Amino acid sequence: MCGIVAYIGKKEALPILIDGLKRLEYRGYDSAGVSVFSGGKIITEKAVGKVVELENKINGRDIPGKIGIAHTRWATHGKPSEKNAHPHCDCGKNIFLVHNGIIENYKELKADLEKIGHKFSSDTDTEVLAHLIEEYKKQVPIKEAVWRTLAHVEGTYGLAIIDRNEPEKIFVARNGSPLVLGVIDDGYIIASDIAPIVRYTNQVIYLEDGEMAEVTPCGFQVTNLKRKKVEKEISKIDWTLEEAEKKGYDHFMLKEIMEQPEAVENAMRGRLVVKEGMAKLGGLRDVADSLRDLERLVIVSCGTSFYAGLVAKYMFEEYAGIRTDVEFASEFRYRKPILNQKTAVLAITQSGETADTLAAIREAKNKGAMTLGIVNVVGSTIARETDAGVYNHAGPEIGVASTKAFTSQLSILALFTLFLGRQRDMSFVMGKRIAEELAKVPELMKKIFKDSQKIKKIAKKYSGSSDFLYLGRKYNYPIAMEGALKIKEIAYVHAEGYPFGEMKHGPIALIDENFPSVAIATRDSVYEKTLSGIQEIKARGGKVIAVATAGDKSIEKLVDDVIYIPKTLEMLTPLLSVVPLQLFAYYFAAGKGLDVDKPRNLAKSVTVE
Ligand code: F6R
Repeated sequence: MCGIVAYIGKKEALPILIDGLKRLEYRGYDSAGVSVFSGGKIITEKAVGKVVELENKINGRDIPGKIGIAHTRWATHGKPSEKNAHPHCDCGKNIFLVHNGIIENYKELKADLEKIGHKFSSDTDTEVLAHLIEEYKKQVPIKEAVWRTLAHVEGTYGLAIIDRNEPEKIFVARNGSPLVLGVIDDGYIIASDIAPIVRYTNQVIYLEDGEMAEVTPCGFQVTNLKRKKVEKEISKIDWTLEEAEKKGYDHFMLKEIMEQPEAVENAMRGRLVVKEGMAKLGGLRDVADSLRDLERLVIVSCGTSFYAGLVAKYMFEEYAGIRTDVEFASEFRYRKPILNQKTAVLAITQSGETADTLAAIREAKNKGAMTLGIVNVVGSTIARETDAGVYNHAGPEIGVASTKAFTSQLSILALFTLFLGRQRDMSFVMGKRIAEELAKVPELMKKIFKDSQKIKKIAKKYSGSSDFLYLGRKYNYPIAMEGALKIKEIAYVHAEGYPFGEMKHGPIALIDENFPSVAIATRDSVYEKTLSGIQEIKARGGKVIAVATAGDKSIEKLVDDVIYIPKTLEMLTPLLSVVPLQLFAYYFAAGKGLDVDKPRNLAKSVTVE
């Protein structure tokens, strides 16, 4: 939610900031803005909408300067408008800052500041920070003024601040919103995540909550809330710029769908030991003994990652015999979760920064439970705060709608099933069978891509539909939900994902000739039941698109359209059945000319609760 980028060094700041904003745009695109130190002044430009609107506004104008801050916004407080766009400043127009997060007590602070004469120019929560710093600066130097301000605010922030009276410095601070400092040859680039940084360096420093860095062109110093100096380690990032670019695809989403065989391969590399029917998960080595005694797993996650968790419930219970509960992270933390020493809480998250998931993990830690993570972004907060975990290694996922991270999560969950299962009752024969089938998944996925054009045609055929019902049973019930989520979020079409067996308890009333259904009808243990459900829809004049197992010719007589996927083990079917649904949603939305990579109202990593 919101992306911030700042630069200080020997290069021209503006092009670096604009490029950085474009790479962070998936975090929000309601407005964009930039402030550059230029000839003793701070020049600020803002525009509503995407970064390109800001570029159009600047229109090639030279704003020379080697220090600057910039922001791309996902609106929380105050509608998307120029006045609410960051950077925000104080009354004296000296202090300019960009903020990712939410200041929860901004109303009280604003009222107090207004009483003593401060004039606000936006409806945002962020602006109070600039005025508070201005107020404290009357008594103490800027750095201390920032500390005192931060001590006063409740909420979350990733912040970058410049002061007209300190033209050689940027202050950055973090609490609950990520902030990474990239060390480059002739300066520093600071951003909400590594996307704007990778083209310049692979050397980064992750700021922790409660830390502030004072950055100059020649160095930086990190201090903590106690004003004590903190020594920071430089970490190396392994994503390349090429991985983050579109590689000739029209959209990141399509590129990422097509990258799934590789993402699954990368998730398994060095971990799947087919000969032994085992999975070796280095990140879980230290907790392996505790996992052996585990009686219950609670999975906390959101959105697509939540659906990966639902698939895992079927896997863990069927093959590892571990009771598994899957909870929306946003609900978990406000309930009274019952946890004990034999329960582990597992976060599944692509970004590793989702505020609800992070809060759930912190709550679980408070209660003394072991916390685990399946996280894609290396060095992200959840990756660092969990006791142990497994990285996806799926590479950067830029499209706002999650695709390759999902199948990568499913692969790791299958590995985790093997790991836990083989610690318990799972036989070598069964372990080997799962491992062999899992190893084949990347090649099977590629076979589905051969039908891309067919899926595109089907998407076109249904392009007039404004509602869909997605149905699946057992392992494919979460996939029905995921299919519905994909088309909802990128095509703005109403879709409901349902367990097929539940259809007759209500949703069937929706069915008519204008309300098509997408039925996942693979040849598995619930195939016959699924066919009965399809008959019930057809009997009411509903159209059905089926996702079926290759070779199932008989289903063609029953439904209107069929997309085939290769046969695999039932527990691994979701890794394949989701692919046509991703492509269907993609072609449906792209066919309407929608911006599938940046759907309206959404942002890639949801760092607000
Ligand atoms: C949907 C989507 C979201 C995310 C959710 C969790 O396509 O991308 O629903 O899955 O916001 O994000 P992470 O996995 O980063 O915690």
